[in-house]
Amino acid sequence: MPFHVNPLSPASAEITGLDCSRPLSSGDLAALRAALVAHPVVCVRGQKLDARRQGDFARQLGPLEPQDRSAYSHPDDSDILILSNDRRPDGSQIGIVDAGDFWHSDSSHIAEPCRYTMLYAVKNPSKGGDTHYIDMRAVYDALPAALKRRIEGREAIHHISKTLNPRVAVSAERAGAAEYYKAREKDRAPVAQPMARTQPESGRPALYVSPRFTIGIAGMDDAEAQPLLDEIFRFMFSNPAWRYTHKWRDGDLVIWDNACLVHMAGGGYEYPDVRRMHRATVAGDKPFFRAA
Ligand code: OGA
Ligand code: MN
Repeated sequence: MPFHVNPLSPASAEITGLDCSRPLSSGDLAALRAALVAHPVVCVRGQKLDARRQGDFARQLGPLEPQDRSAYSHPDDSDILILSNDRRPDGSQIGIVDAGDFWHSDSSHIAEPCRYTMLYAVKNPSKGGDTHYIDMRAVYDALPAALKRRIEGREAIHHISKTLNPRVAVSAERAGAAEYYKAREKDRAPVAQPMARTQPESGRPALYVSPRFTIGIAGMDDAEAQPLLDEIFRFMFSNPAWRYTHKWRDGDLVIWDNACLVHMAGGGYEYPDVRRMHRATVAGDKPFFRAA
């Protein structure tokens, strides 16, 4: 029997009646890809996935992005990254504790950012731990004409280092984070990305900048670029209709399309109230903009 796709908001849907622990039929895979085009956030309910099965499921959507942070990859499948505030008895972190703490699209700071991210809720905290999304296709469509003209054909500069970006702060919860980002200032090159990005399957344009990773605009002085970025970010937060907040249930596997969304971890829980997510990222191509 085919699975059910039940819209939750304009950008999101839940899927029931799909078992991700077994290989998908070609029909189910095509239907899942179609669901992701219609709803860039898809939550598959009621899954039971160990790290290996999650990795196997994710690889059906494409090759996985190599992990940047192998210290936190899962011992059973090194393509699975652990996000958690849990600690070992010696106090050390078992996973990344501050992942996604500012609005972003995943790995936009590399030339070929991952396309899909897949998070599986292994353990939800008793409160908080939501994930927030903004549909950047809707934001692009609503951009005032004057603002649209100012970004047309432009590229923005993205960088992984938080210490280069006054719009974000380094989490005090992660030991060594400031040193980590200081080192990245020098060993990672800035990457230029189109400020609007076409979702290849639908041809729909989406705004493609974020407070977390966008630190400037190519060929534009900061005196002009920073106020323009501030104006764009203010606009993108201005309409709650463009947002979706995912409140995690046990067994949720959420898949999202980084080509047309930004997202952020909402926080709001504290150790020893543990949150543990397993993450896989499907590799992507170079972002492009094609006029409709
Ligand atoms: C991510 C991310 C948000 C969250 O995994 O890329 O931003 O709520 N996660 O954990
Ligand atoms: Mn993220």
